[in-house]
Amino acid sequence: MCGIVGYVGHREAFPIIIKGLQRLEYRGYDSSGVALLNGKINVYKKQGKVADLLAFSEDKDTVSSLGIGHTRWATHGVPNDVNAHPHTSQSKTIALIHNGIIENYDSIKEELSKRGHTFESDTDTEVLTHLIEEVQKKERVSLFEAVRLSLAEVIGAYAIAVIEESNTNEIIVAKKGSPLVIGVGENEFFLASDATPIIEYTKNVVYLEDGEIARLKIGEEMELKTIENVEKTPYIQELELNLEAIEKGGYEHFMLKEIFEQPKSIADSMRGRLDSKTAEVKLGGLAEYEQKIINADRIIIIACGTSWHAGLIGEYLFEDLARIPVEVEYASEFRYRNPIITEKDVVLAISQSGETADTLAAMKLAKDKGATVLGICNVVGSSIARLSDAGSYTHAGPEIGVASTKAFTAQVTVLTLMALMLGRKKGTIAESYYRELISEIETIPAKVESMIGMNDYIKELSAKFKDALNFLYLGRGYNFPVALEGALKLKEISYIHAEGYPAAEMKHGPIALIDENMPIVVIATKKGHYEKVVSNIQEVKARNGIVIAVVTKGDTAVKEIADYVIEIPEVAEPLVPILSNIPLQLLSYHIAVMRDCNVDQPRNLAKSVTVE
Ligand code: G6P
Repeated sequence: MCGIVGYVGHREAFPIIIKGLQRLEYRGYDSSGVALLNGKINVYKKQGKVADLLAFSEDKDTVSSLGIGHTRWATHGVPNDVNAHPHTSQSKTIALIHNGIIENYDSIKEELSKRGHTFESDTDTEVLTHLIEEVQKKERVSLFEAVRLSLAEVIGAYAIAVIEESNTNEIIVAKKGSPLVIGVGENEFFLASDATPIIEYTKNVVYLEDGEIARLKIGEEMELKTIENVEKTPYIQELELNLEAIEKGGYEHFMLKEIFEQPKSIADSMRGRLDSKTAEVKLGGLAEYEQKIINADRIIIIACGTSWHAGLIGEYLFEDLARIPVEVEYASEFRYRNPIITEKDVVLAISQSGETADTLAAMKLAKDKGATVLGICNVVGSSIARLSDAGSYTHAGPEIGVASTKAFTAQVTVLTLMALMLGRKKGTIAESYYRELISEIETIPAKVESMIGMNDYIKELSAKFKDALNFLYLGRGYNFPVALEGALKLKEISYIHAEGYPAAEMKHGPIALIDENMPIVVIATKKGHYEKVVSNIQEVKARNGIVIAVVTKGDTAVKEIADYVIEIPEVAEPLVPILSNIPLQLLSYHIAVMRDCNVDQPRNLAKSVTVE
């Protein structure tokens, strides 16, 4: 987590860094800071959001054309001014920002303490800054070389940027395990955790690889090498991102913008992948691996958070349509469980950011054990995308709101296409049913659009529940993961405790919680165990629970017993989750706004979780 930005060139660095940090706040926002070089290194740091740093810096000297900045998600040390980055060396002449964790910081700290170093913060990062200075003094080498030698002693993950007082036109950057992009302008360099802070200045970027270190020096070409001192040639590529996609565009929040964008993002995730004449699904990135997947003993889906919920829907889809056994694993559990993986397994990682540390580590483990590793990612060029043997991008566009919405529906869309493709190739799905699903999936964007039209109604409904203390979400079959995702969305942005449950499991526990104050969202769409879910609603009503039911348009039975209903358009069962999830996103959004919560940056969360 954490976001880093840097600039060296002919422009004012401070505004570039502040703007960049604001774009990266999704990566962490408990404190932030800048180090600006202007004769000496000025460091300004503040607990809170980047806006707090900006206010704090108002009367400070911010003139500089070289600087680095950081927005933090605390790992080592509480979020306060002192623990905020940048950190400086013993002599205060070296400053550093860091995204990641230095795992062996304790032993390095002990060594350095013996040599007279004193530390101000509780962070692992400060230790690295001191180490670099120590190495530089001892070996009498340049900053570039000192950083390289120091990193050879470090265990852990990092994306770092380092500056020193005597070097007025140079920033040293390095990466292992955390993302880092370098923007190459005309006689200027930018650096950031992702491309969003860079996009308006240059489209030419270099994505640093793990174990690489670079010198960004004005008047010189970028110098790139590995930590082991092997020279490399930087590969400059052109960014495809556009500025509009990362701005709010008149919406109050990114989350609302992203919910409303779904008709387009879902269409984008299908674009070019459906042949209208042959009804064939083409997932170019997977073409070479189709047979391998079809012949796999099983597909193991690994993911975290909302992506894990998409994976659960994938399980229903693959088993139902392609008859391939599926296991869905939390990446964080999988990686430490000594799992049984063979060469006949296909491991499918799902990740919006493509940077989630646990998912990456789980993929590496699966690769080491010989499995084929595929990826479904939203961020092009991300670490997970690069580590996969093959994969499909979701093409949902940048998702800025920390709570995932459009990336989730795009993931489910891609999983659906994949299941359809495999099912047809394997012959496990009747051609008539296949064609029915293909023509229905094409109607999804328009159906989602019609549901966005229910926004005002859902807002009214939200007002009735904004003060609830608990929520229960129930669903069966394809709608069970939707219930889990609905509950997650509500708790992460409104801080209302919410639980998702398979509807039938309610009687084994959650039913004890039901009373006249408990709102229960039941996804009771037609087909998919409809009658059983209706019985579950009866059980809730018998205990005076308040039922908000998500039903198929035209439903009568549930309408009679539920307190409130939200109608979704009729669609084939495997496609229901994409639709039934939309009203739950809106419900969470409006409840959170009414509770004055920061929906785009909920407390303690971050969008890209690059620590385990
Ligand atoms: C964080 C985010 C979630 C996301 C999860 C997995 O917890 O706040 O929205 O679902 O990480 O992230 P990924 O980028 O791998 O999908």
